[in-house]
Amino acid sequence: MKLAVIGVGHVGLVTAACMAADGHEVVGLDTDTSKVDSLRAGTVPWYEPDLQELVDKGAAAGFISYTTDFSEALDGVDVAFICVGTPMMDNGSPNLSYVQSVASSIARHARHPLVVVEKSTVPVRTGERIRQTLALESMAHGGEMHEVVSNPEFLREGTAIEDTLRPDRVVVGADSEHAHGVMRALYQPLLDRHGCPYVATDVKTAELIKHASNAFLATKISFINAVARICELAGADVEQVADAMGFDHRIGRAFLDAGLGYGGSCFPKDVEAFIHIAAELGYDFGMLRETDRINREAKAWPLHQLRRLLWNVNDKEIAVLGVAFKPGTDDVREAPAIEVVDALLDDGANVRLHDPVALDNVRERWPEVSFCGGVEEALRGAHAVITCTEWDEYAAITPERLRELLAYPVVVDARNVWSAEGLRKAGFTVASVGSPLT
Ligand code: UDX
Repeated sequence: MKLAVIGVGHVGLVTAACMAADGHEVVGLDTDTSKVDSLRAGTVPWYEPDLQELVDKGAAAGFISYTTDFSEALDGVDVAFICVGTPMMDNGSPNLSYVQSVASSIARHARHPLVVVEKSTVPVRTGERIRQTLALESMAHGGEMHEVVSNPEFLREGTAIEDTLRPDRVVVGADSEHAHGVMRALYQPLLDRHGCPYVATDVKTAELIKHASNAFLATKISFINAVARICELAGADVEQVADAMGFDHRIGRAFLDAGLGYGGSCFPKDVEAFIHIAAELGYDFGMLRETDRINREAKAWPLHQLRRLLWNVNDKEIAVLGVAFKPGTDDVREAPAIEVVDALLDDGANVRLHDPVALDNVRERWPEVSFCGGVEEALRGAHAVITCTEWDEYAAITPERLRELLAYPVVVDARNVWSAEGLRKAGFTVASVGSPLT
């Protein structure tokens, strides 16, 4: 099939590359000319494992091309995916003006009826608004009547290609037989290759599945972070609690890693958006407000511990390891480390920051921070270290080497990178998430 992907950011480009890998002809559109220029020149302008290779393959096979022009993008396509951003506004609701603007452009430029797919994460009932916008534009300009589908993505940064090529499920919400038929045909190569559940619903249900899934996973993380606080107070070990809980197949071990809380472009925004749309519909989703509160508390934990262990933090040299919101990505959007570094700087600490891939994304934000190309450079002579992202290379540092590098034997391990027991045995004073605080 031939399709257009509108907005070739993280979600859009992965969608385009994976659809091309399954033999579809894809035109990627973006209004950001520098992004389109970069992609046309063959360079993916951000880091995502395997994406560059898949994009190269698609381009070499003639299955992916890019444009900034709507008429060109929509020429002869069966399906148009909307993959533009839905950034959070001050009141917690997502800004849907980019989605509406794309819907208007589709209606103005399409020369035949299309299936318009919302891929961006949007609140329930956004499909109705897209349909309304398409209809108004079509009536105004004598255009075609298009159909609207919700097809949420469940891809994680760092494993986006794997998650898209081999998903746990495909969810498609449509309100007509025809739209369901088109989407089923689009996903048939994936289903033949991978054979996962294909969940066909109406549009509103599909929209809700996405918000409910992300809010549930965020709640799982906040739940274990709350348990971690109790473990610290009671002298128990949260990792053993999580492991034992996880053996229960009804619970599962995934997303029970206590730490610095969730960040990234999805969970914080989606939790807020779900609270907001629920309130708009007349339901107070108090449980999610608590999920959000516990997450904020988790991000304040490292500085609280550091003050406990060092007393005053001002003028101390503090090594911060990791700024990406999780390993495997250079994305720093809503990264918990940002709050940690901001708080350290507010307290007058001298911050030495290391991250294997994400430093370029924060250099301009903090002129006063020392950006360290190597992890040992950050640690050498520091009065304490805080771990904010659990990169493998940090786990490989032995307690003995850490002891040689640090000026004081003080560790705040906010991602449980190291064994608290091992550090204590090596003479460290350590605050480790969810283990007894000494
Ligand atoms: C998430 C969803 O997983 C994905 O399905 C959706 O489509 C987009 O949002 P992503 O934001 O890429 O994906 O990252 P994810 O791996 O889910 O992690 C989100 C945050 O939660 C990270 O900051 C991570 O460090 C944190 N996390 C995750 C924990 O603190 N503990 C865990 O056990 C798991």
